[in-house]
Amino acid sequence: MKEKLIKQAVQVLSNNFQKEGFTIPCKGLYPFQWKWDSGFIAIGLSYFNISNAKKEIETLLNAQWENGFIPHIVFHNESDTYFPGPDFHQSNLHFLSSKEYKSTGMTQPPVTGFVLQEMLRIASDKEGMLQFIETQIDKVYRNHQYFYKNRDIYNEGLVYIYHNWESGTDNSPIWDDIWETMNPPEYDFERRDTTHVDASQRPSKREYDYYLHIIEIAKEHNYDDTKIAELSPFLVQDPLFNAMLIKSNSALIGLYTKLGENEEKISQLKKWQEKSIKAFNEKLYNENLGAYVHYDLRNGKQIEFVSSSSFSPLFSGIPDEKKAKEIVNTMLTKFGGEDKYLCASFDPTSSRFNPKKYWRGPVWINLNWMLYYGLKDYGFIDVAQRVKEDSIELIKNDGFYEYFDSRKSNNGGYGGSDFSWSAALIIDLLHI
Ligand code: DGY
Repeated sequence: MKEKLIKQAVQVLSNNFQKEGFTIPCKGLYPFQWKWDSGFIAIGLSYFNISNAKKEIETLLNAQWENGFIPHIVFHNESDTYFPGPDFHQSNLHFLSSKEYKSTGMTQPPVTGFVLQEMLRIASDKEGMLQFIETQIDKVYRNHQYFYKNRDIYNEGLVYIYHNWESGTDNSPIWDDIWETMNPPEYDFERRDTTHVDASQRPSKREYDYYLHIIEIAKEHNYDDTKIAELSPFLVQDPLFNAMLIKSNSALIGLYTKLGENEEKISQLKKWQEKSIKAFNEKLYNENLGAYVHYDLRNGKQIEFVSSSSFSPLFSGIPDEKKAKEIVNTMLTKFGGEDKYLCASFDPTSSRFNPKKYWRGPVWINLNWMLYYGLKDYGFIDVAQRVKEDSIELIKNDGFYEYFDSRKSNNGGYGGSDFSWSAALIIDLLHI
């Protein structure tokens, strides 16, 4: 079974690899290069095609802006199967955007640092991989500099996102209360996603109005970070996003130490790290819920809902033992009934839970992958094993889908099929 699944996963990744040197998340629905997808994909590629794994990272980092920003989608190629494309986003509005590559003007979780570390773990030619890392690592460092300089408005060690698409958890119920504070026009546009996937599994038309409206505001100000921080109706400190940054800080410290002669950068990274972990525990923890939560900077309050992002700090070594126990207890109590696969993307006990709709409930393999390692690091071996086995079972039963129903009685795979990161990360989980 294991060998067969790995072979199929390799096939998915090979089919989705493009001649320009990057992998699409899946055909039709996502026909370009996505930032956090590329990171997870490079981990899987490292097992069987190191050269493509390196290309994956290179093509992403080649599109970095002059201020260190790395965009969420890079439009290397033309495609009319996706909306909103390059003509809508108009990254050229920002004076420091890449002159060579069109992209969006928003970013996605900063996975690239820890991805380089994972690539080194997996590669058998460590020397060759370290040489590659040496050519890329400063770009990742500059990306972290960008975040701390431009996205940490109170200089507290926590960076903001200004769009739900930056979070990666695009239509999470976490954002519902923010949408209530906005009243965007009803835009006239042609959705493409619902021509590939059943509409019941995707965000609503009205949700797209909110998404587009935030981009229009950013565009009016040429994607200027200061203006966005001042004016965007969506301004959030997201635990998943910040946990990824913290994990990547640690990875950069480890990699720079291996490479040698980077004392100043290591010392800066350590400073960021200490401040970020402290603020994360003080500001993003909710005692009543026993979980980390999002902080709505625009409206000055925690958003009191539990999602799979609430547990992601385990992956980054953020909680102390007491908090780690509390959040695992919350995960098992709310998400972990025997009739369910771990780990739903949103609290199954909430009235906002929807087991079929994208980030409003289904299980996602990338979150499970992070949770597996995080749980294992903290010594929750049985729960880690369950997350791993559930992930494998879902893919074995349903195929390499984008997301999965967490109900055992009503299981199914949803969204895009032959989805690259589901294939990439299952390769890793099947090897360890
Ligand atoms: C989409 O179009 O749904 C993408 O996930 C945005 O990043």
